[in-house]
Amino acid sequence: MATRKVLVTGACGFIGSCFVRTLLARDPDVHVVNLDLLTYAGNPKNLASVEGSSRYRFVRGDIRDEALVTELVGDVDCVVNFAAESHVDRSTTEKAGAFIETNVYGTFVLLEALRLHRPTARFLQIGTDEVYGDVEAPGFPDEHSLLEPSSPYSASKAGADNLALAFSRTHGLDVIVSRCTNNYGPYQYPEKLIPLFITNALDELELPLYDGGTQIRDWLRVEDHCEALLLLLDRAETGEIYNIGANQEPERSNAEITEMILECAGRSKSLIRPVTGLRPGHDQRYAVSTQKLRALGWAPQADIEEGIARTVGWYAKNRSWWEPIKSGEYLEFYERHYGLSARR
Ligand code: NAD
Ligand code: DAU
Repeated sequence: MATRKVLVTGACGFIGSCFVRTLLARDPDVHVVNLDLLTYAGNPKNLASVEGSSRYRFVRGDIRDEALVTELVGDVDCVVNFAAESHVDRSTTEKAGAFIETNVYGTFVLLEALRLHRPTARFLQIGTDEVYGDVEAPGFPDEHSLLEPSSPYSASKAGADNLALAFSRTHGLDVIVSRCTNNYGPYQYPEKLIPLFITNALDELELPLYDGGTQIRDWLRVEDHCEALLLLLDRAETGEIYNIGANQEPERSNAEITEMILECAGRSKSLIRPVTGLRPGHDQRYAVSTQKLRALGWAPQADIEEGIARTVGWYAKNRSWWEPIKSGEYLEFYERHYGLSARR
């Protein structure tokens, strides 16, 4: 990789931290600055393994802070924007304003700083497949498909993608947009389906499965996502969008993923608690065409059974990472949202 100084935003979160660990390990010449606000989802422990590196610097701050962002972009070769409010349920049942402020306005602040102070830097906007909305089988939207976001979260991400692409077209910035399917793996905040169900199963708590569990997501290991992003930083065409996904065959429903988790954790299906009404506008199926990315030479490295087994193993061994998270604000949200107890 030719890049030398990279500003990564939101790297105390799940995917950004995997990306930084991988980037520093892969490229001995790269220097990384991590700008993260440390919201409820940000956790510096996710990057404990690189904290001592002279090639890594953490700045606690907000991507909406124009002065700070201006200072940080001054000498970068590229910016990778992971920073976001990322949980769909919080965008539908709580106030959606934070999603608009960080995901849309925050992305604008980064783009504007690059336009004014560092117009040659590459900008990688980390987007989501959810912008294509509910995809009827057997459809696989490609990068030119219509955007039909269903939730305030996915609408805010579509807004960010469009802003980034507009800055490419209007101001000539070197922008790339990636749109990935659902990730899973180590260090994922236990509000999303897989880490929530794994940690609940390990603690023998109920697994609140929404709406019959028939929905399809195209689960991808976070490590495979980050490999794709490194490839894109190097090889993507400027101004282009790239879908990223596992293209699971066969596709797996949430109920099937739940059963895999229970089996790996050695727990009974009686822990499944069917619930309805907690995700208004619930999308039935996500899927994307990944031909454009695969033409660059990328392919995922693990299938879902192996990936889930490894992930259950990681959470079983790393209780010291997730047990402290399941307290305070976490429990308040959990009990408010699910009306269930998350206390052991
Ligand atoms: P996450 O919620 O685990 O982490 C988000 C990080 O952003 C946290 O560290 C948080 O502190 C930080 N942050 C939030 N607001 C900020 C602000 N205003 N300024 C600076 N930092 C801020 O999220 P994740 O699951 O790692 O997702 C990362 C990105 O990838 C997001 O943009 C998300 O939309 C996208 N994405 C996620 C998935 C997935 O399955 N998790 C799939 C596709 C795309
Ligand atoms: O598709 C990419 C997106 O994947 C990312 O852009 C988002 O940031 C990320 O959160 C994820 O969104 P989802 O809404 O698909 O993920 P989540 O894990 O919240 O839900 C996955 C499926 O599981 C969905 O059909 C809802 C269901 N679910 C979720 C939770 C939290 C349940 O059945 N029970 C639950 O408690």
